[in-house]
Amino acid sequence: MAETLEFPTGHVRLGSSAGQPITRRDGHLKVTGAAPYAADNRPDGLLHAVYAVSTVARGRVTELDVAAAEAHPGVVAVYTPANRPALMRDPDEKVHMFSWRMEALQDDTVRYAGQPIALVIAETFEAATEGARLLAPSYASEPARIGFDRGVSYEPEAVGVGAPPRLEKGDVAAGRAAAARTVEATYVTPHQYHNAMEPHAIVAEWDGDHLTIDVPNQAIDIARGDFASFFGIPAENVLLRSPFIGGGFGSKAILNGPQVLCILAARELQRPVKLVMRRDQMFGPVGHRGATRQHLSLSMDAEGRLTALEHHAESTTSSFDDFLEPAANASQNLYATPALLTRHTGIRVDTGTPGPVRAPGEASGSAALECAMDEAAEACGLDPLEFRLRNYAETDPATGRPFSSKALRQCYAEGAKRFGWAGRPLAPRQMRDDAGFLVGWGMGTAMFPCPMFQADARAVLRDDGTAVVSLSAVEMGQGALTSIAQIAADGLGLEADKVEFRAGSSDLPSGGIAGGSGHTATAGSAVFAAGSDAIRQLSEIATQDPASPLFGAGNAGVVGRGGRLHRADDESRSESYAAILSRAGRPHIEGNGTGARNQTDADEYAMFTHGAVFAEVKVDPDLYQIRVSRLVGAFAAGRIINPRLARSQLTGGMIWGLSFALHEEAFHDPRTGRPMNGDLAGYHVPVNADAPSVEALLIDEEDRHVNALGVKGVGEVGITGSVGAIANAIWHATGVRVRRFPIHIADIL
Ligand code: MOS
Repeated sequence: MAETLEFPTGHVRLGSSAGQPITRRDGHLKVTGAAPYAADNRPDGLLHAVYAVSTVARGRVTELDVAAAEAHPGVVAVYTPANRPALMRDPDEKVHMFSWRMEALQDDTVRYAGQPIALVIAETFEAATEGARLLAPSYASEPARIGFDRGVSYEPEAVGVGAPPRLEKGDVAAGRAAAARTVEATYVTPHQYHNAMEPHAIVAEWDGDHLTIDVPNQAIDIARGDFASFFGIPAENVLLRSPFIGGGFGSKAILNGPQVLCILAARELQRPVKLVMRRDQMFGPVGHRGATRQHLSLSMDAEGRLTALEHHAESTTSSFDDFLEPAANASQNLYATPALLTRHTGIRVDTGTPGPVRAPGEASGSAALECAMDEAAEACGLDPLEFRLRNYAETDPATGRPFSSKALRQCYAEGAKRFGWAGRPLAPRQMRDDAGFLVGWGMGTAMFPCPMFQADARAVLRDDGTAVVSLSAVEMGQGALTSIAQIAADGLGLEADKVEFRAGSSDLPSGGIAGGSGHTATAGSAVFAAGSDAIRQLSEIATQDPASPLFGAGNAGVVGRGGRLHRADDESRSESYAAILSRAGRPHIEGNGTGARNQTDADEYAMFTHGAVFAEVKVDPDLYQIRVSRLVGAFAAGRIINPRLARSQLTGGMIWGLSFALHEEAFHDPRTGRPMNGDLAGYHVPVNADAPSVEALLIDEEDRHVNALGVKGVGEVGITGSVGAIANAIWHATGVRVRRFPIHIADIL
């Protein structure tokens, strides 16, 4: 009988394997190239798909030279809206919060540049590429709407994945009127594209009405049902394999039109078909971070305490769907204020639809908020850290609820100490290094929510003392195959090397969503519960067997550890799992478990991961080149399952923050709407030389409400705080406030 875990106080304990900084279990597979990614699959008879894209941003396709494409040697089929076979679901329909309106050749309308407008299938990738080129489309086009002021503004019903667009607490007008001073500023963030190292890819193969797809996916169970619905088959008929993902960042949580078309072609042609997006094709149908323009207003009393905080975010979306970067949400839960107003406005522009990108909302929103906090501290004549401490929220400003845990004060203290923040001059342009570079120090608070989803897991304990634990968890570089397996081992009271961990496939119990920084918490809770369910059954067998040294101990009187059940009152009396099962004639026992948040805790507590990020920048006084010389972050994320992997996630996030602050920016030509830098030469991301010293400290934090494991999440929080810290350090070095990201040399001249 499966049970939802309350606290890990039963027959097994968390903290033997969990907590160890072990190296990645899949490290060897990764570095030897043996880890299979979707595009590595080459079934017999494979065909290749390449799609043609629109080069205008709005209008209609009036002509495609299908005959020329079909005549090209090796081309097998050309699909356009004129001959695209029917789908069982309208690609423009929004079936649930996590489904996006997609382009699957439903008509000849063009909604953005880069939109798929035809699919060419050929015997080789080269032939398909040439076939797509030969289509030479003509258009009836209308002017592209790109940019905040040329887009169409609207009042949204929801932002992000269904969050309300507006929150108001207290009397903002009164808070403003009571203030000794008010700081107002507008910050602009650009379009950003996920640009995972692995481009989106799919290999689809049908066998009758059964479909096998190799496709990187962050939400295997949801995706399986979604794919099935387009083809009118039961979800059980779809086998979705996603053993390794080369980075997802949100873009691989969501289906896209080219994937559906590839599956459709495979069914029509009765041969397996592979589609791999080119890098430039990643700038369009697979989501991005919309641009934002954020207006902040901070009112303070004479002591520097907030009397009102207003955050209004304008966020871009496409002309046909409604994902808005929920940037203003970043101000809802961080600083104490008697009056709070956050709201969002949508701006429709002719790009693909945005979607969740690592730290959706908080990344952009925290960038603006943390810069505004720095400006407010300056206005109050206070040190930025002291200003934040004066506005420390003891309860959640948005809901008034207590925090399930909040070791942010310790993060501030430990981070500041490690960085050497004390003694920082208040005024800018006060510090130089030996080479004469201007030196600046800045800081920002990091925060990200701790959502949980729902997952199920199975743990099979075998009579040889080994076990198999399975669920469709997702390894996308974050280390899930290691950290979740560590929790699984503790759930069974076994050494990690005795546990085989199976994940990444839709024929396993649902691993939930690898997103929202909630995967370890959710899937980890499920595997721990499944393991402890198996050990509970094993305890029943042993304590009722007169031949066992555990006989009569009572079910609660034993504990599983190191592959043996021990009497709790006399640990010297123990028996191996293998011996118990063998004597009982049971080749194996199966435990099942669920991971989900306890609803009472969810209703009563505000749950966030917190951190403090400190940045040092150096600016060349002659050339104005900006270098981040040091980043120190201190983070409190509840129980840390694997400190090595957690630090890797946190430093990765901080480097993303550096990227946000100084590098990343997608340009859409305002005349054509076309992405002008749709490649990794023009779309800048930092390299090692850009991030010489990045350090993440882990701050102890016990949380008995967030879930039974006490695990929060570390995937996204590192970005937040970091962007503001760097921008604030640039001000401290130069005296120039730059309110547009990324910050360029020209901005500080
Ligand atoms: Mo993420 S944007 O929750 O993959």
